[in-house]
Amino acid sequence: MSFPEAGHPFAGRSLAVIQDLNRMERLYLYGRARELKDAHRRGDRTVLDSFRIDDPDFGIYEVFLEDSTRTRESFKNAAHFHRLKFSELNAASSSFNKSESYSDTFANLVGYDNRMFVIRSRLEGVCRYLAEKTEAYRERHGIQGGISFINAGDGRHEHPTQELLDEFTFLEDLQWDSREIHLALVGDLYHGRTVHSKVYGLGLFDRVRVDLIAPPELSMPLSYREEMEAQGFDVRQFSSIREYLEGGTAQGVPGNGLARLWYFTRPQLERMGERVLRRAAELRGAITFQPDDAVLLPEGTTFYHPLPRHREHPTIPVSLDHTPLNGWERQSANGWYVRMVLLAMLAGRIGDEYAGPVGPDAVMEDDFVQEVAGASAVASASASASAREASGGRAPVGTAGGGPPGEERRFSEGIRPIRDGLVIDHIFAGAPPEKIRGHLTTLISVMGLHGRGGEWISTGRDGRCKGLLFRPDHPGLEEGEVRKLAAVIPGATVNVIRGGRVQRKFRLGHPRRIYGLPELICRNEACITFPENGEQTLPRFTRSRNGHYICDYCSHTHEFTEVWR
Ligand code: NCD
Repeated sequence: MSFPEAGHPFAGRSLAVIQDLNRMERLYLYGRARELKDAHRRGDRTVLDSFRIDDPDFGIYEVFLEDSTRTRESFKNAAHFHRLKFSELNAASSSFNKSESYSDTFANLVGYDNRMFVIRSRLEGVCRYLAEKTEAYRERHGIQGGISFINAGDGRHEHPTQELLDEFTFLEDLQWDSREIHLALVGDLYHGRTVHSKVYGLGLFDRVRVDLIAPPELSMPLSYREEMEAQGFDVRQFSSIREYLEGGTAQGVPGNGLARLWYFTRPQLERMGERVLRRAAELRGAITFQPDDAVLLPEGTTFYHPLPRHREHPTIPVSLDHTPLNGWERQSANGWYVRMVLLAMLAGRIGDEYAGPVGPDAVMEDDFVQEVAGASAVASASASASAREASGGRAPVGTAGGGPPGEERRFSEGIRPIRDGLVIDHIFAGAPPEKIRGHLTTLISVMGLHGRGGEWISTGRDGRCKGLLFRPDHPGLEEGEVRKLAAVIPGATVNVIRGGRVQRKFRLGHPRRIYGLPELICRNEACITFPENGEQTLPRFTRSRNGHYICDYCSHTHEFTEVWR
């Protein structure tokens, strides 16, 4: 087998979420898919052959642990186009049934010289996880070249290749103009991973208007909606198609406020609880298009659907198949072209000439630890205030210096001044006492701050609580440890005391990323890192624009305090 040259922009990369290909990379892919589609229509063999991987030793594996027709079959047909070694794992009779882990299973398949995996699973974040895991396996066995993991739908999380073919089809209908899109998303926006991928995918367009149409039980999770708004999308919400048609036509010209592109999704009954299922018919009614309403639609409206449609209760009635509204059949066929091109790119067959930025957009790392200049004076003044608050009816932790403001003060533990050690103040200031108490325990365990000293919850004159921790004999903190502290107690201040003085003082902000600590947990039970799923791996979190912590694997949103066990 031949390997693409090192430095190829796409070879060996994975696609776990849509942002794994940046905007320019996706536009490149759509340009090539357009070329391939044209060549196929013309029957131009020379152009078609220039896309083919054409290597009987190049192994691609499909592993589908959830049902599928279009995604699985279009990948299979794409693989046949490429003339390579195509295999499918029969998951139902595999050692998954003997509780074998994902990482062991896939390591074996990598060992049989397979370069690409297309995976559909109920577990969210599985592709990112496997891409990381097999990296170590590859190194252990000296396997050359990257291994690609392609997410073909993971639980309720994402479906990035569906997003690729959807964007390609939208562009086709917008005459390849990516300046603006107005899209209605209709259906099960709660469970539908294809619409979750749109939250980031639609950033392809410069201006985005999205109308969300779903009854409350099936509405888009708030975190996704907030993320769309944070990206500057105009977002409106409607509880049924009827409400949308009325709301969209009420003020002025009929159809004026309605999107021309409508994207339907199926109610995912298999993922719903009993309570919601009892109301299935009513919910379906809210998101089923009535053929008579077609007259209310703006000129040139197109409907899309990732499919499947329910044979008895289709939300796009079959009577519309023969109308110009039908965009879903072409959309489905486009899946084949887009996936052929994706495979060619990740195999390194095409893409050499791509000259744009490579890889996901970088996450800005902000400086979340600030050393306060002139530590002595500032630190001791605030420390004396904490000490006053802390001492109310409890063990005295006040200052021994006690002089007028501006004069240097000292920390003390009881009546003995602290000569050397650590004082951490303002821990979760403003939080309820039980939360602060929980965090003091996490802080001690994560940082190993057991030992002599004390920790308190104090109430300031403003009635706000905060935590304090004193460790008189602490030898001091390395820079890495201060950064780690910020992951546990952002907002706190850290004072390092030497010879009875505040030698250094740090203010801790909210870190951009939190990772590598055994006390971390992702609260999503479907996440590949969730302990009961047995993969024995830790989650990692990245802070979002609105201050939430998003799991790097499954994208589940957490408040800061929720990422700790
Ligand atoms: C979707 C999926 O499985 O996420 N279908 C698809 O891949 N084309 C949508 C669905 O199952 O409703």
